[in-house]
Amino acid sequence: MDMRLGILISGNGSNMLNISKACESGELNAVVSIVISNKDSVGIKKARNFGLNALILNPKNYKSKESYEKEITNALKINKVSLVCLAGYMSILGTSFTTTWKNKVINIHPSLLPAFKGKNAQLQALKKGVKYSGCTIHYVTDKLDSGKIIDQNIVKIDDRETEKTLTKKILIEEHKLYIKVLKKLIKGSVYEYG
Ligand code: GRF
Repeated sequence: MDMRLGILISGNGSNMLNISKACESGELNAVVSIVISNKDSVGIKKARNFGLNALILNPKNYKSKESYEKEITNALKINKVSLVCLAGYMSILGTSFTTTWKNKVINIHPSLLPAFKGKNAQLQALKKGVKYSGCTIHYVTDKLDSGKIIDQNIVKIDDRETEKTLTKKILIEEHKLYIKVLKKLIKGSVYEYG
């Protein structure tokens, strides 16, 4: 049976669309059952244009972070999601969410964690003058970019690299890495870790 994915986004949604296309083409034995965005984003438009079930849940409409995240859990459960993929979801998930979905939430981050956590990871790498950076997929805990690392892809930083060129280079690797990791998780089944 196909694994049912829920994808959480906030922005451009290129990883979300890439995963959805891989599901659609049969490259991944999975189905994107719901895309949730915390705002009216470019990504949510892409999801709808692709014919996906896409929902905007604005945290401002909830009395607490916990009740907002409970609503996310409800939407995921109604859609029988077994793995939650964060793809540019720009908010830290709280303890009750990460406990409910322990080892069933993964995130992609544009650096070789544990280096350069948080925002503007590409710029942080450039400022440090490192020669290699990349992207990481890891399990999500309530600590920023800190859960167990699943896999990483590396990119070489050239002498004339800018934030824009590095971001583009890393994004290409992100798309490959997400599919690679999902294949691995689908094969091994994440249920074992839960
Ligand atoms: C990616 O760089 C991802 O690593 C980070 O947010 C960005 C999302 O890009 N967490 P997109 O929305 O998938 O295009």
